[in-house]
Amino acid sequence: MKLLTTLHAGMGKKTALWQNRGSDFLDKYVIRGGKPLYGEVEISGAKNAAVAIIPAAMMVDGVCRIENLPQISDTDKLLQILSLMGAKVRFINPGTVDVDCTSVRLSNRIFSLTKQIRASYYLIGSMLGRFGEACTTMPGGCNFGVRPIDQHIKGMKALGASIEIGRGLIQAKAAGGRLHGARIYLDKVSVGATINIMIAAATAEGMTIIENVAREPHIVDLANFLNSMGADIRGAGTDVIKVRGVQKLHGGAYSLIPDQIEAGTYMTAVAATGGALKINNVIPRHLECISAKLREIGADVQEGGDFVVVRREGALYRANVKTQPYPGFPTDMQPQITTLLCLAQGTSIVTEGVWDNRYRYVNELRKMGAEIHVSGKTAIIEGIGHLTGAPVAACDLRAGAAMIVAGLCAEGTTVIEDVVYIERGYQDIVGKLRAVGADIAAISEPDDEPDGNENRALDDVG
Ligand code: EPZ
Repeated sequence: MKLLTTLHAGMGKKTALWQNRGSDFLDKYVIRGGKPLYGEVEISGAKNAAVAIIPAAMMVDGVCRIENLPQISDTDKLLQILSLMGAKVRFINPGTVDVDCTSVRLSNRIFSLTKQIRASYYLIGSMLGRFGEACTTMPGGCNFGVRPIDQHIKGMKALGASIEIGRGLIQAKAAGGRLHGARIYLDKVSVGATINIMIAAATAEGMTIIENVAREPHIVDLANFLNSMGADIRGAGTDVIKVRGVQKLHGGAYSLIPDQIEAGTYMTAVAATGGALKINNVIPRHLECISAKLREIGADVQEGGDFVVVRREGALYRANVKTQPYPGFPTDMQPQITTLLCLAQGTSIVTEGVWDNRYRYVNELRKMGAEIHVSGKTAIIEGIGHLTGAPVAACDLRAGAAMIVAGLCAEGTTVIEDVVYIERGYQDIVGKLRAVGADIAAISEPDDEPDGNENRALDDVG
């Protein structure tokens, strides 16, 4: 089972729930490019919904069944965190897990895991909601610029928590043991702050109104999850969310939405290689901005009820792309679309509108022949029609996805290192691509320097 193999990096030896491989391995992907993709791909549950919903499950009294859970290392780690806190975590099948948090308590045993993943910041909201206090580490390090959490902290303080940050720890305490409702205006549209405040406010006393919130599909999914467990949240998907706090959340079952970015990555991959892919288990509405941009670049995208079909036979054309919060073009698709534009005719301009520094992967693409000039948040891409295989590294999750897209369409062999990043967010990407005709294989080599893996995992993002 994949779950047993995604945990080796930075995870120490054995855990109570999952086994790792017992020694440190370095995984690489080897791609022989130039093969068009044909067939069907099933999209997994949304990573960024899962990493919010698992911490939120801590607030639930009783058994919470989560379905359509992606089997990726980020969800593995969050489930391990709950388990170390005393939750009973039981897999019904690889995509369905029962989590019973009746007996959870604060524990410093989680710290080695919380500092590996970005989404551990959601534990601040869920611990405050559950216990009236929270103690966790600062979330995983940044590798595309500064990633502040000031809006999370502002929200928790408005809800009545005092917060201390020092020596890598975040400690919070609700005055009187329970948070209270408040009116909060986010100075910056932040997915993470919106989610964290929604989680904390779900069991706060009274009404919370959060203004200027993010509208991503996984924010709506989290609200639907919490509401199905007894919360009272309205307005998710608009820019004002109202949360009427309830005393308790109760158990129930919830199925996650499909992953918008995983789907967009396969759509971009077939646009790059040529061929025709039916991409199943998607919500086409969530993909509209990606579909529109791919059509502009030269792919044919047809939408069905829960699938899209992407075909590309002819030339690719230049385009300009600006990433923005939803419903704009997602920043998490920026490296993949930049890679595609390397194959187009003419000069394209990509503007990163969310993160300060999300172009580290450009150096890797240059090793494959790409001609890209980066200045601040702008990348100017000279379309050169083709890429050439080379040894490259995955600098982060979506950078890694871009290297796969590049390797699939490149002439010759591409070897991608540091694929531990990719496995954080893409369930069985090698198996899914092989099934549609890609020549891609994962190889594992023993790591002579075990500390290297740990350092990379601590430099994780999400
Ligand atoms: C989430 O990160 C995603 N991660 C990211 O996906 C995604 O890139 C990002 O949203 C934007 O869509 C998860 O859901 C776990 P933000 P998050 O708070 O919540 C600034 C992937 O590849 N900001 O919406 O951390 C911030 O600097 C990952 O799947 C503040 O100024 O992002 C950025 O410029 C990578 N203060 C902007 O807001 C804050 O307190 C948006 O960040 C918080 C954020």
